[in-house]
Amino acid sequence: MSEMRTVLVAGGTGFIGTHLCKFLRKNGYGIQIVSRMPSPMSISWNDLTSKGLPEKVHAVVNLSGQNVLDMKQRWTPGFKQNVYNSRINTNKALANAIMDADHKPKVFVTISGVGIYKPDIKREYNEYSDVEGYDFLSKMCLDWEKAARLEENACRQVNIRSGVVLERNGGMIQQLYTPFFFGLGGPVMPGSQYLPWIHMMDLCRLFLFCIENEKLNGTLNGVAPQIITNSDFSEAFAKAMRRPNFFPVPEMMLNIMLGRDRASMLTKGQKVFPKRVLDKGFTYKFPNIEDACKEIVAKPSN
Ligand SMILES: NC(=O)c1ccc[n+]([C@@H]2O[C@H](COP(=O)([O-])OP(=O)(O)OC[C@H]3O[C@@H](n4cnc5c(N)ncnc54)[C@H](OP(=O)(O)O)[C@@H]3O)[C@@H](O)[C@H]2O)c1
Repeated sequence: MSEMRTVLVAGGTGFIGTHLCKFLRKNGYGIQIVSRMPSPMSISWNDLTSKGLPEKVHAVVNLSGQNVLDMKQRWTPGFKQNVYNSRINTNKALANAIMDADHKPKVFVTISGVGIYKPDIKREYNEYSDVEGYDFLSKMCLDWEKAARLEENACRQVNIRSGVVLERNGGMIQQLYTPFFFGLGGPVMPGSQYLPWIHMMDLCRLFLFCIENEKLNGTLNGVAPQIITNSDFSEAFAKAMRRPNFFPVPEMMLNIMLGRDRASMLTKGQKVFPKRVLDKGFTYKFPNIEDACKEIVAKPSN
């Protein structure tokens, strides 16, 4: 019998991490987690830096990061520093552990965001587009990706620039579920801003694709091929919930609640296409927002 392959998932306790670990287990992988919280299933960041990568790790994935849109946190310099450090330092620690390991994993897969692309009404971006830091979050994305970079030939490396991840019990859907449920939902104004999105199932499948596709390297846009606006999303979500889509969320309100930098993640958006993902032969289970929303709202809550 062949030995079970282990994936080391940093941030495996989070929204995406929990789904990814479950999905990888279903596909025959063993999981080890890197976490700030000690548990029998996980190693700590201290363990990683002092003892190095656990033995016989097949793949390393990093999904760590302080939640940017945590409504309980004000957008202060201290919080911004946490948001930044939790991404840059974890990617760096994993990259160093991989480069120092005697037995290298086959692949290092990281995540960053479509916030690396500057919102523009006309311009469509793909993985080959030029990127430049234009605000705090885009500069952070650049540093985040840079921090993961390995010396040549250390191992294969893929970074997924993810759009908003859609699933029932976390992220944006969790925040919107209650207002829509009570008939108080609506688009975030102006509504015409693009909303790069991906269904959680497809994101997990894309991670597996990166782990298993031995020729794959470089950047992939973790977004569905259907480009939609915030209004399109809101309409699809309301329809799936069988609720009205009447109450637009004013831009000003989000600017006040979240701070302008953060609010821009919702009030502005990028037109992002997964050209390289499709060129590499990945196929989506949920390429269409109506089907994605229907599947998601049909699920029971946890
Ligand atoms: N959700 C989305 O729609 C989306 C879209 C694009 C990109 N992403 C990126 O994908 C990653 C995972 O997203 P998610 O929604 O799954 O995030 P999440 O649930 O908020 O958190 C992921 C994990 O990060 C770790 N973490 C939190 N704060 C930390 C800190 N200060 N220092 C070190 N580790 C910390 C936590 O693990 P422990 O408590 O076990 O340490 C947590 O479980 C994030 O980097 C996020 O920016 C997410």
